Amino acid sequence: MNTRYEIIELGNPVLKIKAEPVSDFDCLSIRRHIDAMLALMNDRQGVGIAAPQLGISLQILIVASRPNERYPDAPSMVPVVMINPQLVWHSTRLVKDWEGCLSVPGIRGLVERPDAVEVAYQDACGQWCEVSWRGFPARIFQHEFDHLLGKTFLDRVHSMNDLYSEKEFLKLRQSADVYKD
Ligand code: NI
Repeated sequence: MNTRYEIIELGNPVLKIKAEPVSDFDCLSIRRHIDAMLALMNDRQGVGIAAPQLGISLQILIVASRPNERYPDAPSMVPVVMINPQLVWHSTRLVKDWEGCLSVPGIRGLVERPDAVEVAYQDACGQWCEVSWRGFPARIFQHEFDHLLGKTFLDRVHSMNDLYSEKEFLKLRQSADVYKD
């Protein structure tokens, strides 16, 4: 992996601005950005990542749910790279679940979001595609999409009481089967 890529964290101005759409799909740098995003996400036990988290203000995100140390209950799926994603529809039904973020290290939060989404996006070749998700992948998409809007999950928590340190969150997860809501 190119060492110039790294995860930027809360406070960095790139995490607070709207990302630009990708227009040049032949550009070699897009492929390199995606490879770096995949490598950093896998290396850091993420289930998704957005280009602004690498300090790249472009509308690129990856949804890649799978069980790992940070998200042991996550369902497995083939990773989806989304360029210029558009939220086409979301359910009115809202669900609360825990989120973390590689750009907000050491913090977990209980976040309420629509349970299901429909998304239009371009793939790495520029082809328009559509996908529907429910549950955790829908949550990951909305979390990563927020990064393209200059938001983090901290902007979505209703109350400071819904924020936990990673240490306290792990205690909670170990002590209770039902720790949501
Ligand atoms: Ni994040």
